[in-house]
Amino acid sequence: MSTLKDKVAIVTGGNSGIGLATAEEFIARGAKVVITGRNRDAVDAAASGLGSGTLGVTADQASITDAEALVNTVKERYGKVDVLFVNAGIGAFAPVNDVTEEQFDQMMNVNFKGAFFTIQKFLPLLNDGASIILLSSINAFTGMPGASVYSASKAALNSLGRTLSRELATRRIRVNTVNPGPIKTPILAKAGLDEASVASFHQKFAERIPLNRAGESAEVAKLVAFLASSDASFITGAEYNIDGGFTVHELLG
Ligand SMILES: NC(=O)c1ccc[n+]([C@@H]2O[C@H](COP(=O)([O-])OP(=O)(O)OC[C@H]3O[C@@H](n4cnc5c(N)ncnc54)[C@H](OP(=O)(O)O)[C@@H]3O)[C@@H](O)[C@H]2O)c1
Repeated sequence: MSTLKDKVAIVTGGNSGIGLATAEEFIARGAKVVITGRNRDAVDAAASGLGSGTLGVTADQASITDAEALVNTVKERYGKVDVLFVNAGIGAFAPVNDVTEEQFDQMMNVNFKGAFFTIQKFLPLLNDGASIILLSSINAFTGMPGASVYSASKAALNSLGRTLSRELATRRIRVNTVNPGPIKTPILAKAGLDEASVASFHQKFAERIPLNRAGESAEVAKLVAFLASSDASFITGAEYNIDGGFTVHELLG
C-alpha cells in the first residue's frame, strides 16, 4: 500500500513505542521519515533500524531552540513536509497533593507547550494540504485518579487540534487527534513502574476493556497512517479513540 509515496513525514518521539511503530508504517506506505527523540544513541539506533533514508534528529520537544534546529535540518534535507505526527510525550502519575511544580512544568512543557511550538515552527515548511496528527490519550476526557497533570496536558492537545483545524483550513492543512487507551509500550516503565507493576496495570485494564486486552503500537500506527494519507482527505478537527471500547459506558450490562 503506497498511500504515502514520497511524502515527507516527521514523527516526534519516533525511537520507541507508538512513534517507532508509526515510523515503520509510514515507511511501509512509501514515506520518507524523520524521527526525533531526546537520546542520541536511541535515536540513531532506531533510525538505522528503520533503514537508510530515515533521518534521526536529537531534539527535546520541550525546547523551542531544538524545534527550530529540527526545522532547519529538515528544511536542508527535504525543503518541505507533508505529515507532522506530534507524538512525543511523557507520563508521571501522583495524587494532586504530591505533584511538585517541577513535575507539573516538565509534563506540560513536553506534552503541550512543546507540541504547540513544534507545530508553530513547522508551519512555514508544511505544504498546503499537509496533515498534522496529535497523539493525545483517553485521559484527556476521563478522570483517572493520579493523572491530573498528564490528563490536562493531553486535554490541551485535543483543544489545540480543534482550534488549529479551523485556523489552518485556509491552507487545506488537516489537523486530527488520536486518543489511545492502554497500549503496550515502554512508557509506564519510563514513568518508574517495575515490570510486575506494568503487567498488573495492563491486566487490570484488560479486565475492564471490552476487547479484553491492551492495544499494540502497530494498531495505533495504522490509524495515524490513515489520517496522514489522502484517504482521510475530508477529515479535519476530528478525534479518534482507539481503546478497545474502554471508554464506552455500558449503562446496563
Ligand atoms: N502507551 C500508552 O498506553 C499510551 C496511551 C495513550 C497515549 N499515549 C501517548 O503516546 C505517546 C507515545 O508514547 P508511548 O506509549 O509510545 O511511549 P514511549 O515508548 O515512551 O515513547 C515516547 C517517545 O517520546 C519520546 N520523548 C519523550 N520525551 C521527549 C522529549 N522531551 N523530546 C523528544 N522526545 C521525547 C521518547 O523518547 P525517549 O526514548 O527519550 O524516552 C519516545 O521516543 C505519548 O505522547 C503518550 O503520552 C500512550
